[in-house]
Amino acid sequence: MQKQSDQGYQALETILGDSPDLLKSLLEGSPDTISLSDARQPDLPLTYVNPSFCETTGYGSEEALGRNCRFLQGEDTNQDDVSIIRKAIAERLPVDVVLLNYKKSGEPFINALRMAPIFDKSGDLSAFLGIQRDITKERLRTERDLAQNRLEALGTASGALAHQLNNLLHPITSLISLHLPDIADPAIRKDLEVSLYSARQAADLSNNLLGLSRGKFHDSSDVTMLPDGLIRAVELVRLMLPPTITLETDFETPAKDLRVPISETLFAQVIINIVTNAAQATKNIGIIRIELSEFEDSRVRISIADNGPGIPKTLRDKVFTPFYSSKKEKNGSGLGLSVVLQIINKVGGNIIVSDGLIQPDGDGIGCMFTIDLQKIT
Ligand SMILES: Cc1cc2nc3c(=O)[nH]c(=O)nc-3n(C[C@H](O)[C@H](O)[C@H](O)COP(=O)(O)O)c2cc1C
Repeated sequence: MQKQSDQGYQALETILGDSPDLLKSLLEGSPDTISLSDARQPDLPLTYVNPSFCETTGYGSEEALGRNCRFLQGEDTNQDDVSIIRKAIAERLPVDVVLLNYKKSGEPFINALRMAPIFDKSGDLSAFLGIQRDITKERLRTERDLAQNRLEALGTASGALAHQLNNLLHPITSLISLHLPDIADPAIRKDLEVSLYSARQAADLSNNLLGLSRGKFHDSSDVTMLPDGLIRAVELVRLMLPPTITLETDFETPAKDLRVPISETLFAQVIINIVTNAAQATKNIGIIRIELSEFEDSRVRISIADNGPGIPKTLRDKVFTPFYSSKKEKNGSGLGLSVVLQIINKVGGNIIVSDGLIQPDGDGIGCMFTIDLQKIT
């Protein structure tokens, strides 16, 4: 007995033979991008792209036809992904690959490409079919959901740990506070102040994790005044950084006493996490520039830029994933930036990663974290 799908194909072939316009309307109306490359010409030039291809990539058909589809690749396209396609073409096999491509505008997108050889009636390879799908949005959503789920799981697990940590941190903070006034040597005093500050931050972090595990992280009545809250946070983080780091600030704001809906402890934690990360990225010898500005009348923007090695565009969203660390030395917990994201999300703000300051050798560009928060009016 003939398989049902074969019967279906035969019926389709008959209909297509009878109505040549049907194929065109199927291809032109498809929400997926469809492209065909001529396998009989050198370097597989594109001979057909449907309107969806043009819409997704931004290239008009006249710009795409006659070219090999590799023009969609760019700086951060992973060459291992490209070699999987190359191998499938050489072996005349179908392949599914997810790879980074670029639109005509230069905007990167994650392309789920399905490519398959097409053979003519005599069994000779005549063309390759490509079906592309821009899955950038769903990828980002999945990664953010994953990060969120991991944080929630972390919140639950960290409840007990936070209790224990608080018990251990209590004698550290209270004993340092008790003996600090008796220390005469200013250098030792300064070291102890930094230790005390770090222990307090650890206690705060542990309390925040505890709050997270109980679903309470931030109170709607919390407020930080800017620029004062930012100036204090920068003074604190200055104490934690080696003197080889240059901190530049620009807190020129049109209005004084801006109010943002976040407690000063959480706000300082966000700033400290980002600035200490930036310092480590520059191997503790770079420049970190912190700016505060107002925009769209109702929002406040804080940007922290460094002149370290930067983060490739493809990895920028990953830095917020719990336990992800881009640092080879792994001296971070991998939690700092995910806690930052969690805090900023909870207070209704946004945070994005983009290009930062030019590197000292002038060759590359560092990284910039930009936070925007709703102003309380
Ligand atoms: C029909 C077809 C569609 C293709 N679509 C894409 C695509 O959307 N994005 C991409 O990066 N490469 C795509 N490729 C792969 C490149 O055209 C090329 O084959 C690949 O870069 C490997 O060859 P190379 O090493 O000579 O560059 C497609 C190839 C074919 C045959």
